[in-house]
Amino acid sequence: MSHFQTQLVPPADALRIEAVDFAYGNGHVVFSNLNLSARRGEFVAILGPSGCGKTTLLNLLSGFQQPQAGRLLVDGQATRPELPALGYVFQSPQLFPWLSALENVRFGLRVAADKSFAEQREQALHYLRLVGLEAAAERLPRQLSGGMQQRVALARTLALQPQVLLMDEPFAALDAISRNSMNEETLRLWAELGQTVLFITHDIDEAVFLADRVVVLNIAPGGIHSELAIDLPRPRSNRETRRLPAFLDYRNELMERIGDVMAQSSLLEPLS
Ligand SMILES: Nc1ncnc2c1ncn2[C@@H]1O[C@H](COP(=O)(O)OP(=O)(O)O)[C@@H](O)[C@H]1O
Ligand SMILES: [Mg+2]
Repeated sequence: MSHFQTQLVPPADALRIEAVDFAYGNGHVVFSNLNLSARRGEFVAILGPSGCGKTTLLNLLSGFQQPQAGRLLVDGQATRPELPALGYVFQSPQLFPWLSALENVRFGLRVAADKSFAEQREQALHYLRLVGLEAAAERLPRQLSGGMQQRVALARTLALQPQVLLMDEPFAALDAISRNSMNEETLRLWAELGQTVLFITHDIDEAVFLADRVVVLNIAPGGIHSELAIDLPRPRSNRETRRLPAFLDYRNELMERIGDVMAQSSLLEPLS
């Protein structure tokens, strides 16, 4: 019977947000009737100015916040914080300062109790290698640059092999050069591991460089302003992609849309 059903059910989107309403307790409406989905393996950038609800969106997707209406599905299942399909990378790397890079990556694997200590170390090392940090495995976080710390955080999340990666402005604190190099790194890892990625940023160039599709958020009224498919060839590189005329066209288009978002919100909510 279940065999029959699985044949009829179309493959689920990796992520689905259906008719979600969300307001904070103080009555501040962040989303009303928000609809958004991501196909399996798609790289979606969520772009919007500060205060538009980007972090709120991730908190809803991760199940840390509950919507007043609507549904959030990860791989067809209602989302919740401990869902193993979900991985998070935050703006600050949040490493344990007293643990080496390797031990920070291994830390998340300790919950996977079916692996021996040696197997956990080996798996942690594999992901450190993947982010190019094998040589720094024994260093403490304070002995690593900001970009390297963020790589460790990325390795720690990837080691848990999530199907869906939620990234909340992970490179916003880095200088522009490190950020560009982490952008390239992110695409290389994504091409190798094939997750679905929801990448939140307020950086237009970063959104265009990374994404298959950019979703622009409104500040007020809350929700989606518009979407833009980014049809740039892959693999993308800083040297080539960023100087393509089409890259600049996408960038200019998004600058106009963000300008529109800002203009709308200032009409509704004059600065006090
Ligand atoms: N706990 C909270 N209570 C009330 N309002 C909040 C809370 N957290 C965030 N907000 C408000 O909700 C809006 C969206 O916040 P946030 O999701 O953090 O935006 P972003 O990540 O895009 O900068 C902002 O106007 C913010 O001030
Ligand atoms: Mg935020």
